[in-house]
Amino acid sequence: GLVFILNGPNLNLLGRRQPEIYGAETLADVEQGCRSLAAAEGLEIRFHQSNREYELIDWVHEARDVAQGIIINPAAFTHTSVALLDALHTFEGPVLEVHISNVHKRESFRHHSYVSLRADGVIAGFGTEGYLLALRRMATLLR
Ligand code: DQA
Repeated sequence: GLVFILNGPNLNLLGRRQPEIYGAETLADVEQGCRSLAAAEGLEIRFHQSNREYELIDWVHEARDVAQGIIINPAAFTHTSVALLDALHTFEGPVLEVHISNVHKRESFRHHSYVSLRADGVIAGFGTEGYLLALRRMATLLR
């Protein structure tokens, strides 16, 4: 199975961006960890990041044709994007939502997620390990 792992705005700065909140690992480190685990689980992944809402939406549309599952950290678009939610509603396979930080422990505007209205599971506050946990779960769901 093919899994899209999508990352929203500012996650390109992971490791340098508020490390006290998001940790020291870079997004390249996260991608590498996901690639190792995916190989062990017999999954193929496509790993993307964008600061642009439409690019994330276009990748969800692409996933409709080629992917069995989507893991997404929508970053700030989590809390704002009806368009991304609508795109995810058109995808038929499992959708897992990841947040590195525990959004529920933070500002109240981070407590609401549009994407959670579609997600089959949500992970928050497990650091970058959350991506690996989501990938493990995705392997189970696609088995
Ligand atoms: C985040 C949490 C969001 O509230 C924030 O806007 C992000 C990252 C996380 O991974 O903890 O950019 O999705």
